Amino acid sequence: MLEERKGGFIGRWWKRLTSPSARWSVLSLVLLGLVIGAAGVIGTQVMVARTGTNEFCGTSCHSMQWVYSEYKESIHFANPTGVQAGCHDCHIPHEYPQLLWYKARAGVRDVIGEMRGVISTKEKFEKARTELAERVWAEFKADDSANCRTCHDFTPEAIAKQSEKAQTRHANRKKDGKTCIDCHTGVAHTDPE
Ligand code: HEC
Ligand code: HEC
Ligand code: HEC
Repeated sequence: MLEERKGGFIGRWWKRLTSPSARWSVLSLVLLGLVIGAAGVIGTQVMVARTGTNEFCGTSCHSMQWVYSEYKESIHFANPTGVQAGCHDCHIPHEYPQLLWYKARAGVRDVIGEMRGVISTKEKFEKARTELAERVWAEFKADDSANCRTCHDFTPEAIAKQSEKAQTRHANRKKDGKTCIDCHTGVAHTDPE
């Protein structure tokens, strides 16, 4: 009896939602849709920007202070060129929709990790760091260190300006099937043991 009434209620609404509007013109409905869509896009961009700063990534969670303090000592935080690589430049995919998918997954995992206190002390962090680093290295290997290459573009002209040691390694990189992270770890944090 109750179920019948509930079905009737949903049915009535479904009919209302799927029948053409008598009051609203198609144009006003299209405009309303565009406004809602634009608000969604702008809201997403604001969220991505707010949660992508070094301050947000490095200081909102107690657990991130260990990597943040190391990063501040690294060449990617301060160097003679004045170009800074922030957490998100290296860690978050630069393309949509992968960016949103990655942020959602990492966000959930990090919040749970913070609440459980898995790396709440320096000692816990040192124990966990090899495993954490391996996870990051696997990501860089999987996409040929795409995030490094958004800044470091090794054209033949660029390679010609590098140290001799770097030149041969970089020139043969593709032939040898190597990616940046195979040779350069610990570029923003201390390497695990
Ligand atoms: C936002 C841009 C940016 C990103 C992303 C980036 N770098 Fe850099 N990198 C720089 C700049 C700028 C320097 C400093 C260049 C200088 O001082 O001449 C630098 C320096 C370096 C150096 C030289 C270190 C030294 O001691 O001289 C290495 C090696 C390096 N980066 C590797 C990487 C790797 C590997 C990645 C990816 C994990 C990466 N970079 C991601 C901008 C970036
Ligand atoms: C096969 C190993 C290898 C690979 C792969 C590799 N590098 Fe290097 N890279 C080196 C060596 C060796 C040096 C020289 C280090 C030195 O002189 O102490 C170097 C130097 C550099 C430098 C400093 C250049 C200079 O002359 O001062 C940067 C920046 C750099 N690498 C970034 C990258 C990036 C980004 C990638 C991926 C596109 C990459 N490397 C891939 C081995 C490698
Ligand atoms: C230049 C690129 C780069 C920047 C900038 C960077 N990281 Fe990393 N991060 C890496 C790489 C590469 C690893 C893998 C371990 C390694 O090689 O040091 C890593 C590892 C980590 C780890 C795992 C623990 C560990 O030490 O291995 C955490 C957590 C982390 N980064 C957070 C951050 C945060 C937060 C920031 C900003 C404050 C940041 N990273 C900035 C490249 C970067």
